[in-house]
Amino acid sequence: PVLVVDFGAQYAQLIARRVREARVYSEIVPHSMPVAEMLARDPAAIILSGGPASVYAPGAPQVDPKLFDSGVPVFGICYGFQAMARALGGTVAHTGGREYGGTTLRTRPDATGTALLRDLPAELSVWMSHGDCVTEAPDGFTVTAESPGAPVAAFEDLAGRRVGTQFHPEVGHTEQGQRMLERFLYDVAGIAPTWTPENIISDQIAEIRSRVGDKEVICGLSGGVDSAVAAALVHQAVGDQLTCVFVDHGLLRAGEAEQVEKDYVAATGIKLKVVDAADRFLGALAGVTDPEQKRKIIGREFIRVFEAAAREVAASGDVEFLVQGTLYPDVVESGGGTGTANIKSHHNVGGLPEDLKFSLVEPLRTLFKDEVRQLGLALGLPEAMVWRHPFPGPGLAIRIIGAVDRQRLDLLRAADLIAREELTAAGLDRDVWQFPVVLLADVRSVGVQGDGRSYGHPVVLRPVSSSDAMTADWSRLPYDVIARISTRITNEVAEVNRVVLDVTSKPPGTIEWE
Ligand code: XMP
Repeated sequence: PVLVVDFGAQYAQLIARRVREARVYSEIVPHSMPVAEMLARDPAAIILSGGPASVYAPGAPQVDPKLFDSGVPVFGICYGFQAMARALGGTVAHTGGREYGGTTLRTRPDATGTALLRDLPAELSVWMSHGDCVTEAPDGFTVTAESPGAPVAAFEDLAGRRVGTQFHPEVGHTEQGQRMLERFLYDVAGIAPTWTPENIISDQIAEIRSRVGDKEVICGLSGGVDSAVAAALVHQAVGDQLTCVFVDHGLLRAGEAEQVEKDYVAATGIKLKVVDAADRFLGALAGVTDPEQKRKIIGREFIRVFEAAAREVAASGDVEFLVQGTLYPDVVESGGGTGTANIKSHHNVGGLPEDLKFSLVEPLRTLFKDEVRQLGLALGLPEAMVWRHPFPGPGLAIRIIGAVDRQRLDLLRAADLIAREELTAAGLDRDVWQFPVVLLADVRSVGVQGDGRSYGHPVVLRPVSSSDAMTADWSRLPYDVIARISTRITNEVAEVNRVVLDVTSKPPGTIEWE
C-alpha cells in the first residue's frame, strides 16, 4: 500500500482518497506508529499529511529520520513537508507570514525539469494553510517553487525519491493538484495504477471464499448502496450460501421495497427473505412524538425482527457469517485515527446485538463511498440503486414531525415522490447529497384552494449538498424546479396546502429534522 501518515488534521482521509482515485491502494496510519511498523507493511510510498500543529510547538509530532534511510519514496505535505524538512536538517521558521486559502505558486525558473511541476504553468493557484514555513531546504534538495508567504513552497530530491509541498495538492482548490500526486505515485515512486474495480472485486472474492468456505452467510439489506454492494460481492463469491434479509418497517419511501425486491434480485439473483413488519413498527410507534423515543423504538424492533428472521434462515442451515457494509471512513473514525478527528454519531438501526454470535464479513471496509459505487456498477447493480441518495434507517418516521401513522406516511410518501421525480427530471440527482421532504404533521395553516378555505399541513423541502453528511449546506436548486415541486405537491397531495424551503446549513441544523 501507499501509507498516508495522519498528523491529526482532516487531510489524511482526503489524501488517501485522492491516491485511490489515482488507482493506487492507500491506507491511513497514525503518526504515532513506529517507523519499523510502517516499513513492515512494505509500503510502496509514504505520504506525510498536513496537521494542525506547529513543528515547534511542545509535543508536536515529529518524523523519525529513520524513515528516510529506508529508501521508500516520501511525499511531505504541509505539516508533513515541514516535519520532513526539519528531520533532514532544513530550516523551518516562524515568519509571522501566514497563508490561509488560495495563493499563487510560482515555479522557480531554474526548476523546470522537476518531477511534480514539469511542464505545468509557471504560476498556479494553490491552497495553503500554514503559519510556519520552510526557509531552507535540506541538503540534496532543490527548491522548485515559492509563494508570497513561503520562500520554499516545494522541494525535491529526485535521487532520494523524496518530494514535498507546503501547499495541499489533495484539495480541489489547488490547480493541477491531482496531477502532482499522480506524478509522485507513478513517476517518482514508480507505482502502477492497478487498483481498479475489477481487481478489487477479484481480490475480495478470493478472500471471501477462503474465509467463508462452505458455510452459510446472511446479510441485512437496507436498500442503501453499501449493504447492496457488500451482498452482491459476497454473492459472487459464495452464491446461494448467502441469504439476504430485508426488513420492511413500513417507513420507506414510495417504491423502495419494490426496488429491493424486484430490481435488486433481478440484477443479482440473490436469495431474499422479505419481512413485512409494518404493523409491528407502526403499532410500537403509535402516538410517539419524541424523536429520540422514535429512534429507540425503531432500533429495538429492528433488532427483534432481524433476529427472528436470522433464526429462520439458520434453521435451514448453519449460519456463521453476517455481512455488513462497513466502509473505510467508519473504520478510521472508530479507532484508526489519532483521536483528533470528528466523532461521527453512528445512528444506524442495524446496531445488532453481540449475542447474535456471527463472525462479520465486511468486504467494503477498505473502501470509500465513491469506490463502493464504482464497484456496484462493475457488479452490474441497477444505476438507481448505486446512485441512491442516503436514507436514514428510521426512515420517514423521523421526517414526520409529530406522531407517525399510515395516513401521514401516505401523505409524506406522495410529496416525497413528487420532489424526487422533479429532481430527476431536472437532471439534478447527482447535484444534491440528499433531499429529505418533511411533513409538519402537527402544524396547520390556512390556505385557499379551489374556491374554498383549506386548513392543511406544510411540507418542508430540505435539499442539501455535502460530501460526507458531517457538514452540509442547503442546495441552491433552480427556482423553477422548486416551483414545479411546490405546485405539484399542493395540487396533487390533498391535505398539504403549503410548501416551504429549509435554508439552514449544518451546523447549526442537522440534515434530518429529528
Ligand atoms: P443528520 O440529521 O445527523 O444526518 O445531519 C446525517 C446523515 O445521516 C443520516 N441519518 C441516519 N442514517 N440511521 C441512518 O442509517 C439513522 O438513524 C440516521 N439519522 C440520520 C441522514 O439521512 C444524513 O444522511
